[in-house]
Amino acid sequence: MSDLYKKAADIIRSAKRCVAFTGAGISVESGIPPFRGENGLWDKYDPETFDIRYFYTHTKESWKVIREIFYDLFGKIVPNSAHYSLAELESKGLLSSVITQNVDNLHYDAGSKTVHEFHGSLKRLVCLDCKVGYGIFEIDLTQLPPQCNKCGGVLKPDVIFFGEAIPEPARTDSFNETRRADCFILIGTTGSVAPANMIPSAAKANGAKIIEINPFVSEYTHTVTDVFLNEKATIAMKKLMEAINSK
Ligand code: APR
Repeated sequence: MSDLYKKAADIIRSAKRCVAFTGAGISVESGIPPFRGENGLWDKYDPETFDIRYFYTHTKESWKVIREIFYDLFGKIVPNSAHYSLAELESKGLLSSVITQNVDNLHYDAGSKTVHEFHGSLKRLVCLDCKVGYGIFEIDLTQLPPQCNKCGGVLKPDVIFFGEAIPEPARTDSFNETRRADCFILIGTTGSVAPANMIPSAAKANGAKIIEINPFVSEYTHTVTDVFLNEKATIAMKKLMEAINSK
């Protein structure tokens, strides 16, 4: 067992409040491409498609891309062992919550109970007119854009588009967790999107120890990270769980 994993395990075991902060990288080994880096979605699709103004002015075109990227896979994708390890840490009382930038619902699917969905969730849709909410499995996506059964308005995935505010209570809950945490585990995120990327820096400023899992260097690695586990999420989490359970 490398010293790095022993050091990370000691930080987690001795922490009063440990929080995981995850990005697209934790879901890559479940088959969901990241946004940036190898096989990144933004190399294939224009991020403009995910700007809220484009959604309002080109609703059908935007929905076609959203369905292709997210919903054609949604429900077929399952959590990987890294998601399950975080749920196990929570059930052992070693993890207080997960703050995730991901909208794929995989932390809940893996059994995590306290998940702050900082960018919302694809599992829900909301009517732009009457604000009624729907579960994705209630809605037929063969007709785009999907319409509200109550008022006929256009339905939007309950995720934030570029140009939208972070949803409440996720925003407040996430920053409250950040203020109270003395240990943060960053998994699979470049740190390139605000305001999510302020969270690890805020945790560090509050004195938290930062453990980072990523096969590549990120914006955090040489700025806030204390222990860099330079591996894929499933490999690193397996070794970390072995180190945590070894004493
Ligand atoms: N295990 C762990 N990390 C991985 C793996 C893996 N198997 N594969 C790739 N990564 C890392 C990459 O090195 C990169 O640092 O995951 C990260 C993916 O980066 P992004 O695609 O930028 O994902 P993220 O940081 O979550 O993006 C933030 O940007 O487009 C918006 O709203 C979108 O929530 C997203 C936000």
